[in-house]
Amino acid sequence: MPTTEVEIIPQAPKKAMKAPRTNQTIDLGTAKVQVHATAECIESLRRRMGKASKQKVHLASLPKKSRYTAKNADHHELYQLSVQSPDEDVLFLRRVYKSLRKKKAMHFREDFCGTALLSTTWVNTMDGATAEGYDIDCSPLAWGLVNNLGDAGEVAENVTLVVADVREPSITPPDIRCAQNFSYCCFKEREELVGYFKAVLEDLATDGVFVLDIHGGSETQSEMEEEREIPDGFTYVWDQDRYWPITGDALNYIHFRFEDGTELYRAFTYDWRLWGLPELRDCLIEAGFASVQTYWEGTADDGESGNGIFKVAKRGEADLSWIAYLAATK
Ligand SMILES: C[S@@+](CC[C@H](N)C(=O)[O-])C[C@H]1O[C@@H](n2cnc3c(N)ncnc32)[C@H](O)[C@@H]1O
Repeated sequence: MPTTEVEIIPQAPKKAMKAPRTNQTIDLGTAKVQVHATAECIESLRRRMGKASKQKVHLASLPKKSRYTAKNADHHELYQLSVQSPDEDVLFLRRVYKSLRKKKAMHFREDFCGTALLSTTWVNTMDGATAEGYDIDCSPLAWGLVNNLGDAGEVAENVTLVVADVREPSITPPDIRCAQNFSYCCFKEREELVGYFKAVLEDLATDGVFVLDIHGGSETQSEMEEEREIPDGFTYVWDQDRYWPITGDALNYIHFRFEDGTELYRAFTYDWRLWGLPELRDCLIEAGFASVQTYWEGTADDGESGNGIFKVAKRGEADLSWIAYLAATK
């Protein structure tokens, strides 16, 4: 058998080339919104916006109650209806900033912004308020441009969307910056998480405040499904598929089930590390934040469920499942 000698020539390591981001104006008809993204991203964003616009018109013509089936439902819309309460969130963020800084927060940054619902609500509910939304995926951003900012009128011009990693600096240092719906749990290593918090700290305005939510309780460490009926005529399913106690890794899905028996299976996937509250506080302090306050939810009249009112607390109850907020000051 003849043998072949292959000469292996060592290759110089290729430098990761980062395409430059440009500032583009997206005309929504009612407003012109600034988007910072690479040229490739902008092209993809425009394509996706075209698709989202067509679906918006189609869905609007259907009666609301029977609108949703796996075939025609839009997972971003279902997500917003199921897990987001933008008016309450914005009121809470303003209240936290006011109580800590004795003045109004004007410039807001929404990390992991998805469809930018919170940014849209922020500018819609106060004159002169401005917002920046950051997400690495242009698909939810395109949907948000059509369905959230597109319906907001002229104030949408006060929002800038940036297709980038949340560790990238802001255009204008924010008074208040948030990471909602536990999205920072995508940072699984402590070093990564602290690195993100350091980037946030460095980026905040002088009196800046960083707010993040956290989900905890013994139930969050079990493998289970929780169903919730949404008044708009579908079922939201939170599926805690896997939990590894040694690493804290948690693999979760959101499914949507419909009245006609169909399902949007694994509409969203979350490959997270479940951070504990004291661990998160320690990481914020380690990153250099001056103080961290915990906002714990009060109890409703039934003595069991939460009442939706979050107040500064030093101790909480060992509920099976709870949500709390941390506010870290510069
Ligand atoms: C759970 S959704 C959050 C949507 C919305 N902000 C909320 O509060 O419900 C998480 C979003 O984070 C984005 N994302 C994940 N990792 C990111 C990163 N490193 N930088 C920026 N965005 C990221 C995803 O593309 C996704 O849209």
